[in-house]
Amino acid sequence: MPTYEATSTAPVNIAVIKYWGKRDTALILPTNSSLSVTLDQDHLRSQTTSRCDESFEKGDRLWLNGKEEAVKADGRLGVCIRELRKMRSEVEQGDEKLPKLSQWPLRIASYNNFPTAAGLASSASGLAALVASLAQLYELPQSPSLLSCIARQGSGSACRSLFGGYVAWREGTSSDGSDSLAEEVASRDHWPEMHALICVVSDKKKGTSSTSGMQRTVETSPLLQHRLTLVPGRMKEMESAIASRDFDAFAALTMADSNNFHAVCLDTSPPIFYLNDVSRALIGLVEELNRASKEATGHLIAGYTFDAGPNCVIYALEGNIATVIRAVQRYFPTEAAFPDPFGVLGGKEAGEVDVK
Ligand code: ADP
Ligand code: DP6
Ligand code: CO
Repeated sequence: MPTYEATSTAPVNIAVIKYWGKRDTALILPTNSSLSVTLDQDHLRSQTTSRCDESFEKGDRLWLNGKEEAVKADGRLGVCIRELRKMRSEVEQGDEKLPKLSQWPLRIASYNNFPTAAGLASSASGLAALVASLAQLYELPQSPSLLSCIARQGSGSACRSLFGGYVAWREGTSSDGSDSLAEEVASRDHWPEMHALICVVSDKKKGTSSTSGMQRTVETSPLLQHRLTLVPGRMKEMESAIASRDFDAFAALTMADSNNFHAVCLDTSPPIFYLNDVSRALIGLVEELNRASKEATGHLIAGYTFDAGPNCVIYALEGNIATVIRAVQRYFPTEAAFPDPFGVLGGKEAGEVDVK
């Protein structure tokens, strides 16, 4: 029997209304709905190759960026693998001629083309790519909604990376998680002028993982309860900002929600500090750009957001992104980390900038 192999990629998504807290840690059901923008495939992404072979030694194994990670049967990765294997096994039962791939050990290799575990949503693209590559290997009917549900059990934010464009993850009300689903609220084409500038402040692994950080917040932060009363209104406002392509509302809500999320981290006991001095300086820069822009044009120019890490994502429209990049490079002058991903500078200048 040959080795069967499949490779898939999945992009990162950066939330503008953040998911932070689980009401069910096993199924990964969130305490609030969230909304994100999926970046284009050719920028920040995970690429995962899955292989299976009858002759592989027993047990599944996974390498992340060349380093082996444990695959525990009841851990996050193990649960995703189990679900997909079960689906394959059902297909095999219906067709005797199919090779019994579901019974063979797996070897999985994944690479992220951006910093891992540094607050740039590697668990989102990583688990989405893992699920997509196994679905391809097993030749499963690839409904994004079903795959998204499985990816959610690997990492909550991963459920949003199975869709492109503007994506909402509805918290749902059922206890089995059947209605805790991601869905596209608008396509990339609906608002093609939107750009995301990734400012890499640090590529180091964060001290507190998202999983343990948010659990500590749920257990200790009184401010989280207040946040949970704000989010439903913000979800509605964000969806209408996107529907009407209202950048001022989009940017204002994005910044407010990022700041509220980091306030909740500070309110956690012991407190979690994801932002550093450079992160705060970037906030100051965007606030200043917005103040000047508001004075000159009546409109905002950019909106910053930070996930669970010090790295900054700045959303801006096509007509303004070059101005924002120039300002960032002027105040944080370092070598470009990546080539211009959006082509907005018409050449080789940086669109993702390294501001370490
Ligand atoms: P991030 O902010 O990057 O999402 P998290 O703390 O949420 O950080 O998750 C980081 C963890 O996600 C990693 O330590 C690893 O276990 C997992 N992960 C990241 N990338 C991948 C990948 N490509 N394939 C499988 N797992 C991954
Ligand atoms: C701040 O999805 O990484 O990026 O579900 O425990 O794997 P787990 O956490 P994860 O949390 C993401 C938190 C966030 C906000 C967001 O992406 O919505
Ligand atoms: Co994550």
